[in-house]
Amino acid sequence: MNDQKPLVGVIMGSTSDSDVMQNCTDLLKELKIPHEVRVLSAHRTPEQTKEYAESAVDRGLEVVIAGAGWAAHLAGVIAAHTTLPVIGIPIDSSPLNGMDALLATVQMPPGIPVATVALGKGGATNAGVLAAQILALKYPPIAERFKNYRLNLTRKALEKAELPSK
Ligand code: RP5
Repeated sequence: MNDQKPLVGVIMGSTSDSDVMQNCTDLLKELKIPHEVRVLSAHRTPEQTKEYAESAVDRGLEVVIAGAGWAAHLAGVIAAHTTLPVIGIPIDSSPLNGMDALLATVQMPPGIPVATVALGKGGATNAGVLAAQILALKYPPIAERFKNYRLNLTRKALEKAELPSK
């Protein structure tokens, strides 16, 4: 992944989010999508977060994925400072089990969306999947790998259920 210029920026609010966020980077690795990972916080490192978002286009990123817990403003702040599509992962790290992060991530005002996926690890996987779908529109090799990923998903589900595949 490191030999190619990253297309996806994966950021998280704290190192304590890394276990959840690994589901996202695992998916990106599986589909061979070049990405970079950073820890940035909308609240604790606001200047660095703004700088990251403002430089994202010039550095060649095409999608940003941001995961955060508690009052999760990270994805929204990134979206405010870039024209790139931003995917938000609400992380269930708070005493409210992520309901706070879900609302903070999804309830963006008109004009500045964050494509919000499900809470926690499942959402982290889906953020990677959604990034792959966006990039597949432009990069045929990613489209091909994504097609195989979906075929495998179906095959495995049928195997588990012991149903014949078509
Ligand atoms: C959020 O606060 C982070 O995304 C993390 O989920 C949560 C707790 O962070 P730590 O106190 O563990 O660093 O900003």
